[in-house]
Amino acid sequence: MKISVIGTGYVGLVTGACFAEIGHDVVCTDNDTAKIKTLESGGIPIYEPGLDKVIARARKEKRLSFCESTAQAVSAGDAIFICVGTPPLPNGDADLSAIDHVARIVATEAKSPKLVVEKSTVPARTGQELKRALSVYSRKTGISFQVASNPEFLREGTAVGDFLHPDRVVVGVEDEKAEKQLKEIYRPVLEKKFDCPVHSDCPKSPDPAWVVTTINSAELIKHASNSFLAMKISYANMVADLAERLGADIGEVTRAMGLDPRIGGAFLSAGLGFGGFCFPKDLQAFVFLAERSGVDFTMLKEAERINKQRIDRFVEKIREALWVIRGKQIGLLGLAFKPNTDDIRFAPAVELVHALLEEGAHIRAYDPQAMERAQEVLPQIEYAKTAYDAAVNAEALLIATEWDEFRKLDWNRIHDEMARPLILDGRNLLTPKEMKHLGFEYHSFGRRD
Ligand SMILES: NC(=O)c1ccc[n+]([C@@H]2O[C@H](COP(=O)([O-])OP(=O)(O)OC[C@H]3O[C@@H](n4cnc5c(N)ncnc54)[C@H](O)[C@@H]3O)[C@@H](O)[C@H]2O)c1
Repeated sequence: MKISVIGTGYVGLVTGACFAEIGHDVVCTDNDTAKIKTLESGGIPIYEPGLDKVIARARKEKRLSFCESTAQAVSAGDAIFICVGTPPLPNGDADLSAIDHVARIVATEAKSPKLVVEKSTVPARTGQELKRALSVYSRKTGISFQVASNPEFLREGTAVGDFLHPDRVVVGVEDEKAEKQLKEIYRPVLEKKFDCPVHSDCPKSPDPAWVVTTINSAELIKHASNSFLAMKISYANMVADLAERLGADIGEVTRAMGLDPRIGGAFLSAGLGFGGFCFPKDLQAFVFLAERSGVDFTMLKEAERINKQRIDRFVEKIREALWVIRGKQIGLLGLAFKPNTDDIRFAPAVELVHALLEEGAHIRAYDPQAMERAQEVLPQIEYAKTAYDAAVNAEALLIATEWDEFRKLDWNRIHDEMARPLILDGRNLLTPKEMKHLGFEYHSFGRRD
């Protein structure tokens, strides 16, 4: 199948590369010409484990190409996957102007009928607007379009594996023809017939569920799923606060809770809360959609409020431990919103830095992948070459991202580098007993530190 991917950010790049990996001919485009130039010259503008290998192989086998001209990309594909950003507007609603922009180009440049698929996360009923826009903008050409929704559930950091081994593929369609076309595209994934670039021997798992719905339902599934997971994190954080007051241990509590299959262990980690380009904005857009539809979804607002408070709770802990923050040298480990990515969009670490700078702290930060991006938005702090450098002369060392690398540090060495051996672990990455044994004063969330 010939596929065009519009928008080559995290989702578009993984989508394009994985579709090429399973045998399709894919052309990717983006209105950021610098990004396309980087890709054309063999570079990759994002850090995503394993993606470089998939892209290199697909390019070598001439199944994947990048082009600056959206018009050219539109002509190339029978199916067009829209993967552009849908950032939040100041009122919380999703900004759909990039989708509208793409609709105009597709409608005016297409020379033959196309299946236009929304992969970007959009509020329910966007598909209907997209269909209307395509028909309005193609008034002069008379080309017809089908619209479908195919929400993406990949997680940054494990995106290639998630894309190729999904637990479900959701397609929102209006007719059998679109469903057939999408099933053909996903057939190798559904039948697990591809040469897996992630595993030499793929772990046994049930076949992905093929879920066919209306377009409205598919759009709703994505927002409802992300908002539910965000709520789960906020719930765990409230239980952590309670555990702290009662002298219980949040790790013990959530471990046992998660063993109940009705609850599940994922997304129950206590700490600094969620960030990234999905949960915060999707939660906001879902609240906005509910309000506009006359549904009072206050519980989602609470999940958001609780999440925002996590930074304040952490700063309180820092203040309690340091007494005065102003003028203190603080080391920060982790800037990315989660490990194995360089993505700092809505990262709790960025919020934390702003809060600490306001209090007058001097910050030296380290992240294995996200420092280049962080320097663009946080030019006012120092950046360390290694985690050890971040600890030098620090009166406190903070952990804001649970990179595995941090777990494995030589903590004796860190102890010797610091002006005061004080760790505030915003991700409950380390063990209180071990840190105490090493001579640290150690604080985390919801545990008997
Ligand atoms: N990042 C994730 O983990 C994830 C997971 C699932 C779904 N999503 C959703 O997928 C969508 C994309 O997310 P992302 O993280 O890849 O965003 P991103 O910002 O990394 O990528 C979006 C890309 O679209 C390009 N773009 C914007 N307007 C364009 C236009 N008019 N024409 C061509 N290109 C245009 C941008 O230059 C950018 O490269 C969002 O709706 C997001 O909510 C993201």
